[in-house]
Order: sequence, then structure tokens, then C-alpha cells
Amino acid sequence: MMLNNALNLLRNRFDTPQRPQTGAIDPHSGGPIARDYLGTRDDLSSAGIIGSKINAESGHAYITQERPSVHIVERLELPRNYDRNGNLILGSGTNSVNISLARNHQLPEDHANAYVAMKTFVGYEQAALEYANHQALGDNPRFVKALDVAHVTSDECSYMFMERMTGGDGKAHLEQIFRERALRPDEKKELMLDAIHGYLSCLKAMHDKGFKHGDIDIKNFFHDADSHRVAIGDFGRSRQANPAQQIDEAKELGMMFNRDIRPEALRARVDTKDLDNIIGVLYGSHPDPRVKEDPIGILLKNWAQIQPNYLIQ
Ligand SMILES: Nc1ncnc2c1ncn2[C@@H]1O[C@H](COP(=O)(O)OP(=O)(O)O)[C@@H](O)[C@H]1O
Ligand SMILES: [Mg+2]
Repeated sequence: MMLNNALNLLRNRFDTPQRPQTGAIDPHSGGPIARDYLGTRDDLSSAGIIGSKINAESGHAYITQERPSVHIVERLELPRNYDRNGNLILGSGTNSVNISLARNHQLPEDHANAYVAMKTFVGYEQAALEYANHQALGDNPRFVKALDVAHVTSDECSYMFMERMTGGDGKAHLEQIFRERALRPDEKKELMLDAIHGYLSCLKAMHDKGFKHGDIDIKNFFHDADSHRVAIGDFGRSRQANPAQQIDEAKELGMMFNRDIRPEALRARVDTKDLDNIIGVLYGSHPDPRVKEDPIGILLKNWAQIQPNYLIQ
């Protein structure tokens, strides 16, 4: 019985792999919508689901949210976005093994931070460095917040826990905008420019802290679906940098817009004139020397009129 309940919960979970629902009512049954949650600790263990990560230093315990045995996963047919161990994968990158969803067991289930992102590293040094960078950058809504770091000797892996950015990374966010049938091209353009404004603000916030990010990539910018917040993360290669190095990095951001956003926008029939202007300023092609000194700052200050001719007031 217990196992059946857990399996049903598991199936529900696989059908709707989205963020936790809090207090929402199912229009069909009138009851609360099944939460984005597998069951109690007892349900989990009776279904053969394991995976409690405890950080000895902070005393915080995190349960990897889905860890059915491989046997159960195979019976359910492994859905996309789950790994062989049944962990829901939020994403994967170049430095980490993967990023999966974890539950902070210390907090009540409906708490905003009950579900967190867990980044798995093979080496402790990299995990510790990345966590130290988060701490050095400090608390700022423009930076993804790191919560904890743990080394689990039995796994020979390290884990960094972060707030989960529910809107996913910049690539996923823009792809969704570009493919949205209900939006007109001019509406898509506004949403694209909003996202780009967010990315510029994030990098500017890092530069203002005296850092360069070191790994400019559309997948290192994150969106929060509820608050429309944009934040930058993945600080594994971030370090202190002088203004010249920061200007080089602004150019890299321009290259990234040109390479990763422009072609997608054109394919979606979105007008890219404003985007081209932003890229031009970041590339340093504006004649005014003030633009060359602080391209991102000038762009943000003159956002309402991003035509290059009007940039300097
Ligand atoms: N806090 C998070 N919330 C939601 N998704 C995330 C989060 N952190 C990472 N991801 C997803 O995982 C991917 C890889 O994470 P990242 O920290 O960039 O690792 P890597 O160092 O391997 O590039 C991201 O591009 C994103 O898709
Ligand atoms: Mg990354």
C-alpha cells in the first residue's frame, strides 16, 4: 500500500516535472494539486528511494528529491530530464557533473527555499572555490544565492546548494519566448530586450564588485519565473579583474549576444536593430571615448534610447 502510494506520487511527479505548487487547487477534483514532491521520508524509503546529503559543518540536511531505485525507474520508463538514479536534472554544464533538484529537509515543504538546486562536483577544490566566490560577491539579487557546500566522503563528490532559479537559464528562457505562438514579433522583441537588460545589469553588478565572471555563456544567466528576476551564476572561473579586463569581458558579452541570441531572434522574425546597436556598443565601435570606458554602464544609463546616435546625452 505504502509502495503503491509512493509509486503513484512518483508517476504524478514525472508527469509534471515543474516547480512546487503551493496551495493551488485542482479545478477537477476541487482538492489541492499534487505537490511537486514525492512523499514523506518513510514513503521514500519504502519505495527504495534514498539519498540524504548532510553537511556536517552546517548541520543542514538535503534530500535529493527523486532517487527511486533503477528498478523503479526502468518500470516507469526513464523520462527525459532524469538521470539513471532518478534525479530530476535541472541542467548540466562543463564544470559540474550535473545540477539536480534537492529538498532542504530543515524547512517546511511550502517554504520558498524548501527546494533547492544541487550542483555536483567531482573535486572538493572546485566546489569550495565556487562557494567562496559566491560569498565574496555577497548578497545581491543579481547573483544566484549559494546556500551551502558539502563534501560527502562516501560519494567522493562535493555538492553546492543554491536557490533554484525556476525560470531556467537564459537559453531556455529566450527559446521559450521565441517559440511562443501567442506573442507578436514586437512583443517578443520587448521580452528579449528585457532579458538582455537583465544580463547587462548582472555583469555590471559583478564588475562593480571588482570581479570578472570568466565564463560568459547564455546558460550562466538565470531567470526566476515568479519574480521576473534575472541573476548571474556559475562562478567557478570568476576572479578579481582590473577595468581593462572587465571591458574585454563586456565585449565577450556582445559576442555571446551576437552568436547565441541574434540568429534565434531573426529566425523568429524579431527585429534586431536594437540588439545590433547594443552589440555595437559592447564591441566598442561607438566613437565617444566614454562608451569605450564603460560600455555596459552607458547602455544601462541610456536604455530608453538605445540608438547609438543618442547614447551620449
Ligand atoms: N540554481 C539553478 N536553478 C536552476 N537551474 C540551474 C541552477 N544552476 C544551474 N542550473 C542549470 O544547470 C546548468 C549548469 O549549471 P552551471 O552552474 O552553469 O554548471 P557548469 O559549471 O557545469 O556550467 C545551467 O546552465 C542551468 O541550465
Ligand atoms: Mg555553466
